[in-house]
Amino acid sequence: MDLLWLLFLIGLAFLPPVREAHKQIILVAIGVLQLLEGWLITQLPTRGRSYAVLLKIFLAMLLISHTGELGINSSYYPIFYLPVVTAAIYFDAWGTLFWTLLASAAYCSYLFPAMQVYDLEPGAIAELAIRILFFFLAAMVVNRFATENRRQTRRYQILAEQLAKTNRELERAQADARRSERLAALGQLSAGLAHEIRNPLGIIKGSAEMLTQRVQSSEPLAAELAGYISTEVNRLSALVTRFLDFARPTRLETRACSVPEIVDRALRAVAANWSGPEIHVQRRYETRLPDAALDENLCEQVFVNLVQNAYDAMGETGGTLRISIAAASRRDRRGVEVRVLDSGPGISLELREQIFNPFFTTKKTGVGLGLSIVSKIIDEHRGSIEICDGGPAGDGLAGGKSGACFVVFVPLAEQAVIPEPHVASRA
Ligand SMILES: Nc1ncnc2c1ncn2[C@@H]1O[C@H](COP(=O)(O)OP(=O)(O)OP(=O)(O)O)[C@@H](O)[C@H]1O
Ligand SMILES: [Mg+2]
Repeated sequence: MDLLWLLFLIGLAFLPPVREAHKQIILVAIGVLQLLEGWLITQLPTRGRSYAVLLKIFLAMLLISHTGELGINSSYYPIFYLPVVTAAIYFDAWGTLFWTLLASAAYCSYLFPAMQVYDLEPGAIAELAIRILFFFLAAMVVNRFATENRRQTRRYQILAEQLAKTNRELERAQADARRSERLAALGQLSAGLAHEIRNPLGIIKGSAEMLTQRVQSSEPLAAELAGYISTEVNRLSALVTRFLDFARPTRLETRACSVPEIVDRALRAVAANWSGPEIHVQRRYETRLPDAALDENLCEQVFVNLVQNAYDAMGETGGTLRISIAAASRRDRRGVEVRVLDSGPGISLELREQIFNPFFTTKKTGVGLGLSIVSKIIDEHRGSIEICDGGPAGDGLAGGKSGACFVVFVPLAEQAVIPEPHVASRA
């Protein structure tokens, strides 16, 4: 492109007046400016375009003043198309009009010296008007194409960005799918292993108990050792059962259920097994709550785990457990929200990232599968579980110290069949 420009300028240099040194110098200056225009604009992104147009108007004025006895009569007047077209490429319609007006005024300024010598005839005025109108015509036509071109470029840019983003997401999804496949295979393998371990464990446990009974009085040491075997086997078998709960593929048997009833059952189950300091339970259930589509047994497990964790967290000093149940909606889906808020030490920000990972526990006798099971069951119900920044003000329950707060959302019964994207978020 640049070469073509230069060729046309060289062509002009060989046309009369050939021996006019100023004309040749101005043509060289125009060529240099044309070559450096891109650089100028990158160096001065805000003003570079205006400078380029201004310089071209200035050079065009110089050229016509050195190529005719009277500048206004110079055959080189089309050189003004140069600033006009440049402005049309870089500016919007109003900017183009402004610069074309300025270029036309610069050209017309040569009328004054001419009028000192000649009279202005109507034919000359018409000729001048035709030249100027052609400047505007060219400017607007070029500007229209340039604007359209800019719009298309922007559209392609946006499309390219979207495509790149989709590609990245696809790659991430593929990587996730590969990892899930590997994990699923590992899960199946370990679930099989855990299942096989359970039967021998039962036999060891039974034998240890029989042994304890037989040698109870005659051999106290053997009885004590058999007691250890029994306790440890109990622990191992609880771990295996918990692991199987987590690893076993679950088949949901959903039906419309009352969430408060399930929560109450879970509360009773945990309280019945609790032997630590006193825990007060405050309930705040919204009246006339709609039913949610749930697998009753699995959801009871969810709340048993959450409530058990809350009890454990308040295990040293006792405290208050606050449960609130209310209608809520997430991403245009209506459902029921259960908040479980305790007055224990809470969960630090660093731990929040990890507590849903399998086998993460901070408890001496914990397995670290409770919240993984919870999250898996909630995922399968297309619900969500989040750790909230709960507090007395936040949940509207009576005052007291606030510890950890979990919010479980489950969708309503009539929406259970809607094939929504899977949502299970953890804060
Ligand atoms: N209400 C809570 N307050 C403070 N920390 C909590 C609370 N709930 C969970 N956590 C933290 O999250 C960890 C993981 O909980 P999770 O229920 O998965 O396992 P766990 O309770 O340790 O063992 P288990 O498998 O027997 O439930 C806990 O060890 C505890 O550190
Ligand atoms: Mg737990």
